[in-house]
Amino acid sequence: MSNVTVIGTQWGDEGKGKIVDWLASRADIVVRFQGGHNAGHTLVVGDQVYKLSLLPSGLVRGKIGVIGNGVVVDPKALMTEIDRVTAQGLVVTPETLWIAENAPLILPVHGALDRAREAARGDHKIGTTGRGIGPAYEDKVARRAIRICDLAEPETLDWKLDELLLHHNTLLAGLGAETFTKDQLKDFLAEITPRLLPFSCQVWDRLDEGRRAGRRILFEGAQAVMLDVDHGTYPFVTSSNTVAAVAASGSGVSPSSVGFVLGIAKAYTTRVGEGPFPTELHDQTGRTLGERGHEFGTVTGRPRRCGWFDAVLIRRAVRVGGVSGIALTKLDVLDGLDEISICVGYELDGQKIETFPSAPGAQARVKPVYETMPGWKETTAGARSWAELPAQAIKYVRRIEELIEAPVTLLSTSPERDDTILMRDPFED
Ligand code: IMP
Repeated sequence: MSNVTVIGTQWGDEGKGKIVDWLASRADIVVRFQGGHNAGHTLVVGDQVYKLSLLPSGLVRGKIGVIGNGVVVDPKALMTEIDRVTAQGLVVTPETLWIAENAPLILPVHGALDRAREAARGDHKIGTTGRGIGPAYEDKVARRAIRICDLAEPETLDWKLDELLLHHNTLLAGLGAETFTKDQLKDFLAEITPRLLPFSCQVWDRLDEGRRAGRRILFEGAQAVMLDVDHGTYPFVTSSNTVAAVAASGSGVSPSSVGFVLGIAKAYTTRVGEGPFPTELHDQTGRTLGERGHEFGTVTGRPRRCGWFDAVLIRRAVRVGGVSGIALTKLDVLDGLDEISICVGYELDGQKIETFPSAPGAQARVKPVYETMPGWKETTAGARSWAELPAQAIKYVRRIEELIEAPVTLLSTSPERDDTILMRDPFED
């Protein structure tokens, strides 16, 4: 028996929500370890649709949910989400939700700075979610963050806020945005403290206890490898590391606890926000994928850019992300297409290249080299066994496995939790 870590292998929105939900039903504890409320997971359970941004998906299955120290926590967004799911019938208490006391907070200054900076970037904007994620991580690394445990020492907040505001107000004023007063932030913290503190604890210690008791832990990644601050399409990335290695440091467990790494990949590719996307389709096929796949951002509602499956990028995500097996999602969106293409390499300035370059200029210039195969007419939607898939769809999946050098261990064929074909149970690995 192993723990399981789920990460995205493309630019996010690979359909992690459903897979994590499915795996959560077999886990005891579900842990978020990076990112914040920039993530968006949609879970469909019977006639209920849960939209989660910060809460670990396991809560929907009555499991313990954990927000690790690697997450940046917007306390207001968290409380709003708790209120929303509570109204839908979930029970969220300090017994079912553990939040790392050493997690940094996202404060109103962070969202304001994120949005002011994006506005100032004009054509060079990153397309962030505007939720303060980047500025909050910057403060953590700069050692001026307010962490949850600081709320238990209110007498120290005065000088901490002075330091924080000196930095942020200088920037906000320079950008022509509204500045903040210390009292505004103190009032904000005073309001959220009584609700937030009861959830905070030493997550690392409880997870260690869980490990010793043989409890199954599911680590739920957010965003994806191509949005990783080191390995992604920098600077068009998020501000955290999204690879599986971070499940350990972002929750305070040993690297060996990460277990089986399940990489989620859509059967095609999507991206929200700006940045290079070699296989993006600007034609009717791209629009068809977007319409059939309901490709709109869960968090921002922005339409997602759509394109063919990029095997080169995913092979890289498999290697740097430590992926043991792939969960391939939304295969049914490709049903009925005459032809389907897979990117198997690139051309850069007339030269063939086999890996994605690192410099943003080169990333924007690469042209995909495609392998094209016939599509299938039959529907794959709702298939629950390999035998129910058309032969051509099986060929497509097999070719993907060869190109990305990783096995497809799980195939999802509709948003419904049970429409899943399991080749190998990651918890039993
Ligand atoms: P940030 O994380 O808000 O700073 O945004 C940085 C980039 O990551 C932008 O391109 C966002 O659209 C993208 N991003 C952040 N979170 C997600 C996600 O959960 N799914 C897809 N894209 C995301």
